Amino acid sequence: MKIFVTGCCGYIGSHTCVELLEKGYEVIGLDNFSNSKRSVLDRIKQITNKEIKFYEGDMLDRNMLKKIFTENDIDMVIDFAAYKAVGDSVKKPVEYYTNNVSSVLTLLSVMQEYNVKSLVFSSSATVYGVPKIVPITEEAEIGGTTNPYGTSKLYVEGILKDLCISDPEFKICVFRYFNPVGAHQSGLIGEDPNGIPANLMPFISKVATGELECLSVFGNDYDTKDGTGVRDYIHIVDLAKAHISGVEKLNNSDGGLLIYNLGTGVGYSVLEMIKAFERVNNVKVNYKIAPRREGDIAECFADSTKANKELNWKAELGLDEMCRDAYNFSLKKY
Ligand code: NAD
Ligand code: UFG
Repeated sequence: MKIFVTGCCGYIGSHTCVELLEKGYEVIGLDNFSNSKRSVLDRIKQITNKEIKFYEGDMLDRNMLKKIFTENDIDMVIDFAAYKAVGDSVKKPVEYYTNNVSSVLTLLSVMQEYNVKSLVFSSSATVYGVPKIVPITEEAEIGGTTNPYGTSKLYVEGILKDLCISDPEFKICVFRYFNPVGAHQSGLIGEDPNGIPANLMPFISKVATGELECLSVFGNDYDTKDGTGVRDYIHIVDLAKAHISGVEKLNNSDGGLLIYNLGTGVGYSVLEMIKAFERVNNVKVNYKIAPRREGDIAECFADSTKANKELNWKAELGLDEMCRDAYNFSLKKY
């Protein structure tokens, strides 16, 4: 089976490609390296001994997509290509909506043209806005997003819903990721954002390695167990494996839109994350308490029962593995 993976060199894309290749799927990949490195391709090969058929290009480039669909008999698409920095999206809304929404429209129209009707799409827990109840189930209201990044995911979910209503042959699986962290156990691939990381785990790693001086803990006056923000951190390899289950589920589906939360169901605070990282890796993480970050919510964790039951998938790796693998990757300089 041939799967076209957009954003194949990014954090989640690269780990998913490894799982796909190891399961025997043929992978055709596209990336424009706006937030990744070409060497990821070699490192994926080192892990799997297999190769992605790779195209360098932009998902907004309709002719490039047509070339890929013409040259390959694609059965399914997994779409990871997007911009994902929340703060950046507030400053550059046009770029974010173009890259995260227009690109999906281009992809969908080419898929229609080539009669490819199976898609796995990367959405985010951010579509729930400020959750009224935690843990969050898929039935929870969506909307109330506080930044263009979150709103771009909301828009795409709406587009996919309308598409499935218009054409019942479309099989679409939307994954709402919670907070993916960690890295492949080989240390060959991991989270490698350009510039100073905005997310907690890569920031902690860089403080531990001495690349950054001190972590700012954004607020300790939330109504949570210790006052700091609580999130559902999920090991990237568990998250990648869920995509295999998604592909299998779509293969057995008659059509329609499926939506799943991907998390562990357990919430950890920022201070718990710091302490676990220090204990597991035997390192010191300097931190200071700073004001709350604008747009942050107190608590966000998933009820992933639906994915557990319907996809026969469950996150297996715990906090210790997340901290160990994140640090292991950050020690290697690629
Ligand atoms: P990432 O930035 O590491 O990977 C995205 C990849 O897509 C990068 O390699 C980038 O170069 C590429 N890309 C971006 N725009 C492109 C375009 N127009 N054409 C071709 N390639 C393009 O991000 P990630 O963490 O792997 O996220 C993957 C998906 O999951 C994104 O859609 C993101 O919004 C979503 N998501 C991520 C998180 C998270 O915390 N990492 C959480 C929720 C949802
Ligand atoms: N945090 C700090 N200091 C930092 C970075 C983060 O204290 O330097 C705190 C945040 O305030 C929050 C927690 O660590 O309480 C996690 O923050 P992240 O930035 O790592 O993650 P978010 O939950 O804010 O957002 C992430 C992705 C979004 C995605 C969302 C889905 O960045 O793209 O998860 O839940 F939409």
